[in-house]
Amino acid sequence: MDQLLVALDVDTAAEARALADRLRGIVGGFKVGSRLFTSEGPSLVEELASRGDRVFLDLKFHDIPNTVAGAVAAATRLGAWMVNVHASGGSAMMRAARAAADGEAARASRPTPLVIAVTVLTSLDQQTLPEIGLEASMTAQVERLAALAEASGLDGVVASPHEIDIIRRRCGRRFAVVTPGIRGAGDQPGDQRRTMSAAEALAAGASYLVVGRPIIAAADPRAAAERIAAECRHVAAS
Ligand code: C5P
Repeated sequence: MDQLLVALDVDTAAEARALADRLRGIVGGFKVGSRLFTSEGPSLVEELASRGDRVFLDLKFHDIPNTVAGAVAAATRLGAWMVNVHASGGSAMMRAARAAADGEAARASRPTPLVIAVTVLTSLDQQTLPEIGLEASMTAQVERLAALAEASGLDGVVASPHEIDIIRRRCGRRFAVVTPGIRGAGDQPGDQRRTMSAAEALAAGASYLVVGRPIIAAADPRAAAERIAAECRHVAAS
């Protein structure tokens, strides 16, 4: 199932490799986030990419444009298939990320990674937005940042499944919406606040689903991934 991306939120390359080996062929790619990247560094990204795995390098860059451009260029050289930045870094930062991905891919004769932006973390909700000085409604804030990402030339956004509809209406069908916060009926929400099942998120128009704990913390990760992939295929066929 191409649209299902598994978050390899583990501490060691050995655990990540073992998960990737069990899940390859069932899922559409692997997400390497700050936990694994900080533990094991870029070589694991290179290793997975050179095996042909699609790697979403989820480091959510948020810095001055020149620094973000350098980081996105480095991710492109590693062979990342998708990278992300925080939309709240602003349009100049996102344009710099776009230019770096395009420029480095051309210079190094590598595929251009998808560059997407995080709108509002799925662990935040309407009650916690004021903590960070945001008085807007969640929907308005997500819509605003998605529109800014699109205007800055990015390929899509990371957003809660609950905001897919508003993003689709504002940014169109070709704009990718990557949705974490996927939980089945029996799964623990953990720190995720705005959740939906995989089938519901796809039916709502998600381009890709990012699933972590419901797969990697399952007693049998392969069976859990197969179950979610089957649920997704069912939606695709209907
Ligand atoms: O374990 P779980 O399914 O909640 O994992 C979701 C993954 O997606 C985590 O790696 C998390 O860092 C990431 N993510 C998120 N919300 C965002 C962006 C990324 O949960 N807005």
